Amino acid sequence: MDKLAIFGGTPVRKKPFHSSVVIDEQEWIYIKQVLENKEFSRFMGSPTDDIEKQLLMISAEAVNYKSQYYTFLGGRMVRKFESDFASKFDVSYAISVNSATSGLSMALGAAGIGPGDEVITTCMSFSATGSSILLFNSIPVFVDVEENSFCLDPDEVEKAITPRTKAILVVHLLGNTADMDAIMEIAEKHKLVVIEDCAQAPGTKYKGKCVGTIADMGVFSFQETKNLQTGEGGMVVTNNPNLARKARLIRNHGESIPDDSWDEDSLVNIVGMNFRMTELSAALGIAQLAKLDENNRIRTENAYFLQDALQDLPGVSVPVLKDGVVPHILSLIYDSQATGVKREKILAVLRAEGIPAGSGYLRTMYENPIFLKKIAYGRDQCPWSCHLYNFRREYKSGDCPVAEKLLREKFIWLYHIHRPNEIDDMKDIVDAFNKIFENIEVLNKKEIDVRIGYKW
Ligand SMILES: Cc1ncc(COP(=O)(O)O)c(C=O)c1O
Repeated sequence: MDKLAIFGGTPVRKKPFHSSVVIDEQEWIYIKQVLENKEFSRFMGSPTDDIEKQLLMISAEAVNYKSQYYTFLGGRMVRKFESDFASKFDVSYAISVNSATSGLSMALGAAGIGPGDEVITTCMSFSATGSSILLFNSIPVFVDVEENSFCLDPDEVEKAITPRTKAILVVHLLGNTADMDAIMEIAEKHKLVVIEDCAQAPGTKYKGKCVGTIADMGVFSFQETKNLQTGEGGMVVTNNPNLARKARLIRNHGESIPDDSWDEDSLVNIVGMNFRMTELSAALGIAQLAKLDENNRIRTENAYFLQDALQDLPGVSVPVLKDGVVPHILSLIYDSQATGVKREKILAVLRAEGIPAGSGYLRTMYENPIFLKKIAYGRDQCPWSCHLYNFRREYKSGDCPVAEKLLREKFIWLYHIHRPNEIDDMKDIVDAFNKIFENIEVLNKKEIDVRIGYKW
């Protein structure tokens, strides 16, 4: 039995895993074009004669519109990236943004969600999912997740609906798919807008259809750890011209565009944002989009390998990866009752063996102080205290027991399933797990400092 690294043995993994940032030749080609063209951003936030035409133009047409000139729709790379994205995801409109956080706010704003409105969302996601709801002063209502998909539980959604509910913000967490059939049925019954947060799921399919294209709008993230990367960046997709029009206005200082002929409905929620993507980011996006399928194939292959190799360890299970799912991070579910060793100890020992592993998010979103203390805008509980809301909403630990248990006791997240890590790298992860489980009795008896970090 090999001695565990945490007790002075040799670690299984002696070198870092590969970074998620992989640059191939195409990135250089497009970036060079941007530098040669001297066009860092060709967005123009002011009105032109043909503004209505620009606002409604589908992405496949906008790509050729006035080519290298300043436009309300951005520069050449931005419009090409959007057109390529729309074509790949089979939607009419792809509207790039400088982050998915901006994209989520923009989508909610475009859908007309505002003060007094409730948006039902999952309690377990990156904080931006919840905080984006606050931007237009609406109220997040957090509900619990399904134990196997880690995504919104439709029964909990149904229970959370009130006369104030206006939208559902679904997250396809870790690349898994939420139960979209059930969620869309609920939305139809109660006439709710549905927005899909696909930050972690570009390329994941639900019943053969790309997530993001099932509901009213979909939002993707291109931050550097995601499946498709532009440094920072994101994309909002929709087939609805009215939503696209409003989204484009919110993205680019639309408040200065209208003339006297615009009615008030077209003007609300346009409050001076700049969510525009740069030409450099878009250039990276064009190159990255072309290899998304191949990158996703490698992620999936690595995840399946780990799933097969790890699922028989005592207390370890890997939720079934449904057809079409492209795992973003692979999450194991660990049950410490099977071994007597707490999850935190396993994580620390894994890290000492050179395997980066985490417990997921620090807490559910509603346990963040911004919600517990209702201190989003100033100290007077805005927007919860808004006269248009007229309801007392509280957030407290214990609200969503399934998610709380997953985060506090059960999740073991494995991050490095992305290209260019390959099966040989995955074997180190498996070897580390096997070594740890051979030593489980030793671990049971000895105390360790669980705060140990990852050494690279
Ligand atoms: C589920 C989810 N939503 C939203 C975001 C925000 O994305 P961005 O960093 O592009 O703003 C993230 C980023 O990690 C995410 O994971």
